[in-house]
Amino acid sequence: MYKIPASTLFLGKNLVYVPQCHSTNALAAELDQKAETPEGTIVITDNQTSGRGQRGNSWEAQPGKNLTFSLILKPRFLAVKDQFQLNQVVSLGITDYLATVVEKKARIKWPNDIIVQERKVCGILIENHLKADGIHHSIVGIGLNINQQVFESPSAISLNLLTKEEFQLDHELALLLSMLEARYLQLKRGMHRELENHYLHLLYRKDEIHRFNAQGSEFEGIITGVDDAGKIRINVGGVERIFGAKEVAFSE
Ligand code: BTN
Repeated sequence: MYKIPASTLFLGKNLVYVPQCHSTNALAAELDQKAETPEGTIVITDNQTSGRGQRGNSWEAQPGKNLTFSLILKPRFLAVKDQFQLNQVVSLGITDYLATVVEKKARIKWPNDIIVQERKVCGILIENHLKADGIHHSIVGIGLNINQQVFESPSAISLNLLTKEEFQLDHELALLLSMLEARYLQLKRGMHRELENHYLHLLYRKDEIHRFNAQGSEFEGIITGVDDAGKIRINVGGVERIFGAKEVAFSE
């Protein structure tokens, strides 16, 4: 069970806990159909049986060991073309939280995987529901590996593996929500450029030479940043190339 956090203004004040569900993102989207569902509602479960990941992947998490939840946000102040700013804000809220728990610096692997020591500790799936006049609502799904010790994927890690500590999920949730809310409110106050700079500062492998793969062809390049639409900028032999989320991947 989870308590309503005391340290936030609106995030998590309406807390919907279900012991088990297919996907908290799907359940949150259903709840959002009801007019009375307020912004900041959190849907959280101990056991997600069909967790959804980015690019049609699934998200696996051992029951009762991790934080698996979705937030309902209504960022009507954001234009559709600026929707990537929400990804930046959520990534930063999570890295702020991680800075209080792990010594090693967390990095944001574009577009928004959270990496510590070269392994993924947290996945984010943001599903924006757009209307002609802007973003109607966003379902922000977060899977944060906390106490799980064994993973099928060799590239996954948890806070327990990083620190050898056992965490109280309820306590960690409250801390994380307060940091997510603080970043969201900064965006609402118009601090987009500061947030973007911070995001770029934490961007994984930025300004380093690495090998990439795009449409089956390999090349070497340097990540230089992200454009306003959230596409990644890679300098390839002195020429800037821009890729969307499904168009490029690291080769190694
Ligand atoms: C990814 O890295 O591929 C994104 C993973 C997102 C997983 C979370 S867990 C809670 C929420 N509900 C879902 O079905 N997915 C997200």
